[in-house]
Amino acid sequence: MITHMPVMLNEVLSFVPEWAKLIVDGTLWHGWHSLVMAKKFPEAKIIGLDVDQLMLEKAKLRVDPATAGVEGWELHVTHNIDCVHWSYADIDIILKDQKADYILLDLGVNLEHFLATERGFSLKGNAPLDMRFDQGMTKTAEEVVNTYNPSDLQSLFIRYADFTAEKAGELADTIVRERKKSRIKTTFDLKHVLGLCGLGNSAVAVIFQAIRIEVNWELNNLEIFLKKFPLVLKSWGRCTILSYHSIEDRLVKQSFQVLADSGECKLLTKKVIAPHYTEVAKNKAARSAKMRVIEKN
Ligand SMILES: C[S@@+](CC[C@H](N)C(=O)[O-])C[C@H]1O[C@@H](n2cnc3c(N)ncnc32)[C@H](O)[C@@H]1O
Repeated sequence: MITHMPVMLNEVLSFVPEWAKLIVDGTLWHGWHSLVMAKKFPEAKIIGLDVDQLMLEKAKLRVDPATAGVEGWELHVTHNIDCVHWSYADIDIILKDQKADYILLDLGVNLEHFLATERGFSLKGNAPLDMRFDQGMTKTAEEVVNTYNPSDLQSLFIRYADFTAEKAGELADTIVRERKKSRIKTTFDLKHVLGLCGLGNSAVAVIFQAIRIEVNWELNNLEIFLKKFPLVLKSWGRCTILSYHSIEDRLVKQSFQVLADSGECKLLTKKVIAPHYTEVAKNKAARSAKMRVIEKN
């Protein structure tokens, strides 16, 4: 059974307004944060969004009273959570004229993405280079690796993986040279090519992450969301963002600061909040989490 612990759960709960009637969980996954919010705030309606159909199906099983007990998952059976296949970047469209009291984003991947080695997120198993959260999207990691020109690959490795221009250029050139010999189709093909440049497993994992960010448009989605969310929050409504990558946290920090400076919102976390060391001891996945919260004036 998958063991997943919702990251910074107590901190997330502490920022949900007591009077919340409409909550959006923009990154539902199996719905852990949502199920606990539903239990604590039974009056609230929760709209849970996820672009990954496979994760969403599991979330639906967990919140449906008919199936909620399976695999010992039962936490709280509720009809108050709608599970919707939707991107948080389009939150304004799903909410139509409604405004939310609380919005939660818990960004990134989860353990299950890595354990499902056939989806190509993990370098531990050999699988097609896919890495799509949303199986309805057409661009895969294979396409990125085999069709991007060298300078696009280089800037991807500089921007998302923090490699020097020189090393990123070497990686890009090697990929382009090797793909001319034969298409780079699997995780092990890519790992082999990166190995030619002397990259060990942890550096390869960082390159895999950079490609995943590109395939799923992760930073673009966050940037779009950051422009939109104040428009769909009620006055005194709050938005919490948990991020795991320094670029994501920088985007959140800068955008929250601009909103605070303009008087549109108030920062509830003047400094970023990190998980308590006891949580990190229990849940390694929490170790890089950074949490920021803002309130609409
Ligand atoms: C870290 S998990 C969320 C875990 C969840 N809070 C919990 O504890 O059960 C992040 C989820 O966000 C989803 N996701 C990624 N990009 C998304 C997007 N643009 N819109 C909605 N969901 C997205 C992923 O598919 C993944 O299931």
